[in-house]
Amino acid sequence: MSGDRYLRYDPSIEQPQPDEAAIIEAIVSSIGRTSAASFNTYHHGIRQQHAKGVGYLRGELTVKDHLPDHLRQGLFATASRYPIIVRLSTALGAIKSDRICVPRGMAIKVLGVSGPKALADDNSANQDLLLVNHSSYVSDAKAYLSLQRDVERSLNTPDVVLRGLGIGARVGVPLAEKIGIPVPLVLKGLSDPGNNPLGETFHTEGALRFGDYVARLRAVPASEALRRLTGQPCNDGDDVVLDSVARFFRENSANYDIQVQLCIDLQHTPIEDSSIDWPEDVSPSQTVGRITIPSQIADSPARRSYADDCLSFDPWRCLADHQPLGSIMRLRRDAYRMSRTLRHQQNKTPMIEPRGISELPN
Ligand code: HEM
Repeated sequence: MSGDRYLRYDPSIEQPQPDEAAIIEAIVSSIGRTSAASFNTYHHGIRQQHAKGVGYLRGELTVKDHLPDHLRQGLFATASRYPIIVRLSTALGAIKSDRICVPRGMAIKVLGVSGPKALADDNSANQDLLLVNHSSYVSDAKAYLSLQRDVERSLNTPDVVLRGLGIGARVGVPLAEKIGIPVPLVLKGLSDPGNNPLGETFHTEGALRFGDYVARLRAVPASEALRRLTGQPCNDGDDVVLDSVARFFRENSANYDIQVQLCIDLQHTPIEDSSIDWPEDVSPSQTVGRITIPSQIADSPARRSYADDCLSFDPWRCLADHQPLGSIMRLRRDAYRMSRTLRHQQNKTPMIEPRGISELPN
């Protein structure tokens, strides 16, 4: 397929609303308050989303050889291999039982990339990619502020209530969506089926620059052992997700294909509204690389504390060629900075950007 049919990146394709800066400020202040509240609870600084790590892995990203010109962009411009660190997580900004089913996250740190960075103060040679097992998210910063307010209001909701809401949401949310009844965003999050993360397909949900073009990215299970886990429930124990991931990697390796879906136009494949799936028949996913993760110990205490407390993953730690785009993606620039700054201050731990894979403890 030729590159002519895809929208060319130009800064004018982003169209922020006039009140966006004020909305982002309100979100960031709320993160400051939830961070203080969680520190009060745990006496330890935690991420304000995806707090619970459920697997810590080293692996490799191989960029495919002989890609057509329109896919040879940014990180994927030349066939090469990069070491990666992967942190798997569950989505709540709290450390809860895995019996409460919430979306699963896959954060990938690609080490040793070259090229101009999106932010002037990013001195690392790393490209972070943050993915979740849902193809789309909330629409924009305004909708996210309402979700953030719900999260802040419900900080003290007992686990038993969250579990009950989840059971109701798994039945009610698909029904409500079918007949067009608006569903509170918090309930949508709780309607996740709670499957084994290793069999899931993970998505950027929002758009990012893809060199001359604009894309959404995803990681798709490519090895048989992973595919066998697709759709398998993993929610019958407090820490069953980490236990399952660790058990899997004691004996198995894993491959995921990295695919991109390119923006065609702002109507069918919008960038300011992250709640709309980009239809595969309009823009089919195309494979640009592969992640390989060898068999290993995925939960050693040294690795857990390094990845949970010293590392951070941030969609804005990226090449200029992969700058996050659209309302939801813009707001993440300040949100992640606030969350990590506070937790590093609370824990008095250094903020480390690894310069080589050997820095990840075994
Ligand atoms: C658009 C889709 C999004 C995806 C795919 C996504 C994914 C993720 C993932 C995978 C992590 C875990 C990172 C890690 O393991 O360290 C994370 C962390 C986080 N996310 Fe998002 N996220 C999204 C949107 C948002 C939005 C809109 C906010 C707004 C506040 C947000 C706030 C956070 C925060 C505060 C953290 C913790 C950062 C830290 O303390 O280091 N995310 N996200």
